[in-house]
Amino acid sequence: MKDLTPKKEDLDPIEIASRDEIQALQLVRLKWSLRHAYENVPHYKKSFDAAGVHPDDLKQLSDLSKFPFTVKTDLRDNYPFGMFAVPREKVARIHASSGTTGKPTVVGYTAKDIDTWAEVMARSIRASGTRPGDVVHVAYGYGLFTGGLGAHYGAERLGATVVPASGGMTARQVTLIEDFQAQTIMVTPSYMLSILDEYRAQGLDPRRSPLQVGIFGAEPWTNAMRAEIEDAFDMHAVDIYGLSEVMGPGVANECVETKDGLHIWEDHFYPEIIDPETGEVLPDGEMGELVFTSLTKEAFPIVRYRTRDLTRLLPGTARSMRRMEKITGRSDDMMILRGVNVFPTQIEEQILTVDGLAPHFQIELTQEGRMDAMTIHVEMESLEAGEEVRLAACRQLGERIKDVVGVTVRVHAADPGSVARSQGKAVRIVDKRVKQ
Ligand code: DLL
Repeated sequence: MKDLTPKKEDLDPIEIASRDEIQALQLVRLKWSLRHAYENVPHYKKSFDAAGVHPDDLKQLSDLSKFPFTVKTDLRDNYPFGMFAVPREKVARIHASSGTTGKPTVVGYTAKDIDTWAEVMARSIRASGTRPGDVVHVAYGYGLFTGGLGAHYGAERLGATVVPASGGMTARQVTLIEDFQAQTIMVTPSYMLSILDEYRAQGLDPRRSPLQVGIFGAEPWTNAMRAEIEDAFDMHAVDIYGLSEVMGPGVANECVETKDGLHIWEDHFYPEIIDPETGEVLPDGEMGELVFTSLTKEAFPIVRYRTRDLTRLLPGTARSMRRMEKITGRSDDMMILRGVNVFPTQIEEQILTVDGLAPHFQIELTQEGRMDAMTIHVEMESLEAGEEVRLAACRQLGERIKDVVGVTVRVHAADPGSVARSQGKAVRIVDKRVKQ
């Protein structure tokens, strides 16, 4: 893999500013953002008043802990535009994340917000090793999902040649990557695996593809998966994080030169880690739920939004802005099996250690009497693997999960192509338990 470290002089000065400088900027912006939310969004006026706090109470950054959290139901309760802080005519764009139940969560952007978003996305794409003039193939979905358009505007801002492929039609994705000689692909890691299968199905060697950088996010993925993809394509695989409520992709991104967690673009998004049970703010380095407050957003300011994503904050390395560790999972995706907490990422890690298994998987939860049971559906890498190899792989995976994760599971390894594929975010858990 090529060394694609960006030049220092190409970075935004704030990326490598001193901590004092970053914090001074954050304080000014945070005061503005709290006031903006309080004065223009009835929900925030009500929730601040109920908690007995006023924007003037924020004298230092740590005072933020006095302010109330915002949760997803607050956004649902104010559907569609109740959380907007500017008149509707000033909203240049709407995005929405598909709710699994009922109404979607709607977010809005002013023209300036879109400009800020393009800037942090361009920063993210540059941190990933992409340069102006490169061809960037965007296979995140376009539409209400923030992935496609977020990536698109950022890549344009960086000065890249953008191919707005969107998700789906996997055979065509491969053709476009090859014909247009894309150096960078932006896509969910699970869909990248489908693209990898398609390369092989077309008899092409993925290591000879033009791709040098993959910017993967929108769902949890592990360092084991990074190694798998980097090796298969001989390319850098870099992690990008974001969520619609806070902006979209480009809230945090790894640097290609270190790949040691995601630098949070702290000049626009203020992170905290809290204990999900008590709501107490935890010191940097401790694992908990990630909470964000926007510092510059006009249309949709967000105060202490509980993401449900679990990670910890670490000091800066390649940039002075703090890092978040690769996400373990969402608290919503945590399964508890006979008292043991299990995340899909832990299963992914183990699958990738077993020879003969492909990295596609789904976890099925069922109920047997009063007990919950977990079946891991995986695939063999090759159709040719005989019954003996298949049974050995199943046994090995079951043993590894038992040893490392601490739960007993059933493993079902079927033929290649049998596990449902995603063209966006993968569905990892299929819950067939009877709801009480
Ligand atoms: O997934 C935005 C995005 C698009 C990020 C493209 C990166 C690339 P939502 O649909 O609102 O927005 O979903 C946000 O996805 O709270 C996490 O649970 C999860 N997520 C996003 N990026 C990562 C990541 C977009 N790198 C939710 N690792 C978030 C793990 C991620 N989980």
